[in-house]
Parts: sequence; C-alpha cells; structure tokens
Amino acid sequence: MIQCDILVIGAGVAGNSFAINMAEKRPDLKITMLTKSNRQESNTTYAQGGIAAVWDADIDNYEKHIADTLDAGDGLCDPEVVKIVVEEGPERVREIIEWGANFDKEADGDYRLGREGGHSENRILHYKDITGWEIQRALSEKVKTYDNIEVLEHFFAIDILTQHHMGRNVTRLTPGVECYGCYALNYDTKDIETILAKVTVMCTGGAGQVYKSTTNPVIATGDGIAMMYRAKGRIANMEFVQFHPTSLYSNNGENPSFLVSEAVRGFGAILRTSDGEEFMHKYDRRKSLAPRDIVARAIDKEMKMRGDDFVYLDCTHLDKDKFYDHFPNIHDKCMSQGIDPMKDFIPVVPACHYICGGILVDKMGATSIRNLYAAGECTCSGLHGANRLASNSLLEGLVFGQRVHLAVMNIIDNLEINNHIPDWNARGTTEPNEMVLITQSWRELKDIMSTYVGIVRTDVRLKRALDRLGLLWRETENLYVETTVSPQICELRNLITIAYLVTGAAKMRKESRGLHYNTDYPEHYGYLETTYQ
Ligand code: FAD
Ligand code: SIN
Repeated sequence: MIQCDILVIGAGVAGNSFAINMAEKRPDLKITMLTKSNRQESNTTYAQGGIAAVWDADIDNYEKHIADTLDAGDGLCDPEVVKIVVEEGPERVREIIEWGANFDKEADGDYRLGREGGHSENRILHYKDITGWEIQRALSEKVKTYDNIEVLEHFFAIDILTQHHMGRNVTRLTPGVECYGCYALNYDTKDIETILAKVTVMCTGGAGQVYKSTTNPVIATGDGIAMMYRAKGRIANMEFVQFHPTSLYSNNGENPSFLVSEAVRGFGAILRTSDGEEFMHKYDRRKSLAPRDIVARAIDKEMKMRGDDFVYLDCTHLDKDKFYDHFPNIHDKCMSQGIDPMKDFIPVVPACHYICGGILVDKMGATSIRNLYAAGECTCSGLHGANRLASNSLLEGLVFGQRVHLAVMNIIDNLEINNHIPDWNARGTTEPNEMVLITQSWRELKDIMSTYVGIVRTDVRLKRALDRLGLLWRETENLYVETTVSPQICELRNLITIAYLVTGAAKMRKESRGLHYNTDYPEHYGYLETTYQ
C-alpha cells in the first residue's frame, strides 16, 4: 500500500504543472504522480505547433483570442471559461519560461509568433516544430527539483477508489460519492498496489487510440475518462472528436500517424487535390486556414468524391531555409519517406487528434466526485465547446493545472486518508493464454469507430456501431473478470467505454455542430450539452 496527500494520475502538461504549483506552495505535502509509461511519453511530448497566448499587444488582445475560440467552438464554449483561460494564459506561459521552457525568438529577441487555423492573429509561441517535447522536458526537469514529488513510472491506474470499494452500492444517483485514491498495476513487480490519497487529480490525457488512424501516441487510451465513468462520475460532450486535417499519409499503418503541423499552413502551405487544384476556397473564406472541423470535412469530401486516399499539402513555393529553420522535424520525416517538401507535394490525410469532451469539471477543475479533480485533455472544461481552436490545449493544461492547485489548497488540510479500502482481490483469475483475443478485439474496435463514427456520421452507422460495441463489451467484460489484470485488457476495456461514450453522445445529438456532423441532421438546432450523469 502507498499513502500520500495528493495523487496525480498522469505526467503531461496538466499533471506536471499542477504538481509543480502544489509542491512549491506546500513542501510539507507528499505528492505522488503516476505515469503508465516513462515520464516523457505523453500527448504533450508530441505537440508540434505550439501554445496560443496573447503576446504582442501591438497586434493582439484578449478579445480577439476569445472571439476566435468562441467561433471555433461553434456555440458550445462556456464564455466565462474561455475568458479565464485566455486572460490567465500569458502569465502561465511566462511561468514555464521561468521554469526553463524555450521558445523560438526573432533576431531582435522578441518571441517569434506563428499562426494556425482559426486564429485571427499570430499568437502561437513555439519551439521549432517540437514545442511539446520542449515543454515536457522543462516541466519534468522542474518536477525533479522538488523533494516532495515522487514520480512512479510504469504504474498503470486501473480504477479510482470510492465507497463502492467498501461494499456500498454506488449508482449514478448516489449523492456524495468520494474518491480515496486508486488501484494501480506496478509493471515491474506485477503487483496491484492500493494507493490512498486525500485528494486525487486526474490528468490522463486523450483517447485517440480508439481510431485506426491517430496522431496520438499509444498511451492515449482514455483511461481517466473510462475510470470516471465506471465510478459513476459525470462525462460530457464526447461526440466532439477532433480529426486533424493533415497527418502524413502512409500506407504501412504507422501508429501513431505522423502529424504535419497546422503551423505549416500558417506558414503559407496550400491544400490541393490529387490533380494539383486548390479546393478550400469552396468551403470557407479562410481557405486552408479555416478551423479544423471545416478543413477536415472538406478534405474528407474531396477524397470521397474523387476516390482518393489523400490530398496534397503544397510547400514548394515557401522559403527553403526559413522552412527548415521552423520545421526541421517535419522536413526530416518527409525526407525519410522520400518526399522533399521543397520539391514534392506532401500527401496528407485527416487523423483522429483530440477529444473535446471528457470528465465534466467546474472552473476550478472539480469533478462531480468529491476530492477528485481533473485537468487537461481528459476533461470537458467548457473551453473548447464543439471544436477546439488550434494550440489552445497546452494552454488549457497549464491554466487548469494551476487553478486545481488553488482549489486543493483550500480543502487539503481538512481531509483524512481513508484506511478502510481492501486490497485488490485477484481470486479466481488466471493468466490469459490467448492474447489474440485482446489484440483482435482492439482491431475490431478501431474498425468500428473509423468506419461508422468518423468525420461524417449517419443514424444508421451510429446504430450499427452501438450494436457491435455491445458485443465487444460483453466479451471483454467476461475476459476481464476471468483473467489476471494486464495493461492490454485494461486499455481495451477503457477504449470500449470511450467508443460507447462517443457513439452514444453522437446518437443523442440530433443536429450537426462543430466536429459532429450527421447527414441526417445537417443543421444547427441548438442542443446544448450531452452529459452522461
Ligand atoms: P498528456 O500529455 O497526454 O499526459 C497524459 C499522462 O497520463 C501521461 O503521463 C500518461 O502516461 C498518463 N496516463 C494515462 N493513463 C494512465 C493510467 N491509466 N495510469 C497512469 N498514467 C496514465 N496542443 C496544443 O495546444 N498545441 C499543439 O501544437 C499541439 N500539437 C499536438 C500534436 C500532436 C501530434 C498531438 C497528439 C497533440 C497535440 N496537441 C497540441 C494536443 C496536446 O498535446 C494535448 O492535448 C495535451 O498535451 C494533453 O496534455 P495532458 O497533460 O492532458 O495529457
Ligand atoms: C498542430 O501543430 O497542428 C497541432 C496543434 C494543435 O493540435 O493544437
């Protein structure tokens, strides 16, 4: 058994920024942070384009960033949350610069600001095209300077602990559900540890692995959202799955798909069909730099009309030296595939990228379960609405990581650890002797979601997906209760829950809005939240 004051599940931008703020203010508290992989592996590490913040007062202001975020969110953002994140964002960015994060500068020493889809001004701070890697590096280094933060790598959180684990029947109608920590699988010892904490903070990131083609690394299996749902917590807006318009087309099923940053279009690259024609002017006045939902849908339509597997991104007219200086990683990746971005068009295709829905949180990151907070991509905070504006996600992780620490400061001294939680019971389970049952179900799940619950949806496809998911769910639950717990079976189980939440919410929404497009209901009708409670 492990005991701590605060348990943080996840060590990306949200988890790290919460832990640093908390450790700085309260060196007397023991903070335990889990990551199911090593401390560098997270969605954060893969972020390319950068972090959006109002920086240059000569050209930009909060009102413009707020307006762009609301416009992308297509009527579903919480305007107060948007204001909070936009206005607190620059201060949070300055903080991580003080903690050691580097961003590119112009020759005169000013920060070099990039542009991405849906932004009316240049406001993206970036480090080459590996901004996330740099932020993760800086935050991980900073975390190491605090004696009261212990990072447990290769620890897989299985379920959060509530009154259910003390034998009480907890339903979605039970008032006052509380969190006491989690059960976690220690990869090294294969033991399932009971981790008890006064407060738990969920920062488990995204769920892109529920689709066949995704820019998300293999850790992005929606574990936090699924744990919350099983614990009877509130989840919202899961139908809004963001497909990034431009992942590098590959016919060898590379997982994750390599992202060609939207910043490349911000730098002047143009989308073209297979015959070299521009097409985005037919869909939006902002052409290749329209918000992501519009660009991804336009690409999907053009590919389907023509029977093509990809469209092209044309960078051939751009300045070679400047391109290499800004996008060395993308340049080198293309070259490794035999594509010279300065001479050849880059084949690109949409891929699942971000989940706008998740654990419903209030403005301080509190969830519907007591003593459980959440921050980052696993949440639905009201910032993104029906479609996230590019580069607002790292910002959300920083702002909410910091806000959650303020909320926890207010309650932590009045809480006790609950010592009545029994250890994990593995009686009656056996080692799985047919891993193929798990790997094949993963494949089927990804197929179902990619075929029936992709960029364009219909009622018939959604019903078909739900029917098939029901079968997969029953088979997997049986396997889960019979076999020894492994990360593979837990992730499959979590992904099936995510798939069910996405498809169920998509079925509930009888309109098209933002990232959710159903040809049976092509208009906006004014539905608000789709909440599982
Ligand atoms: P993550 O960074 O994903 O961290 C999740 C953590 O939780 C990891 O440490 C993981 O190990 C841990 N974890 C998960 N499940 C468990 C479990 N069961 N047990 C224990 N630990 C667990 N956003 C921008 O704003 N700008 C960009 O330029 C940008 N580019 C992107 C490019 C790519 C290719 C991708 C994939 C995303 C990009 N995003 C970008 C989105 C952004 O990177 C993420 O939304 C954000 O980093 C999420 O941060 P997080 O802290 O919430 O989660
Ligand atoms: C990108 O670089 O295109 C990704 C930006 C984001 O997802 O916010």
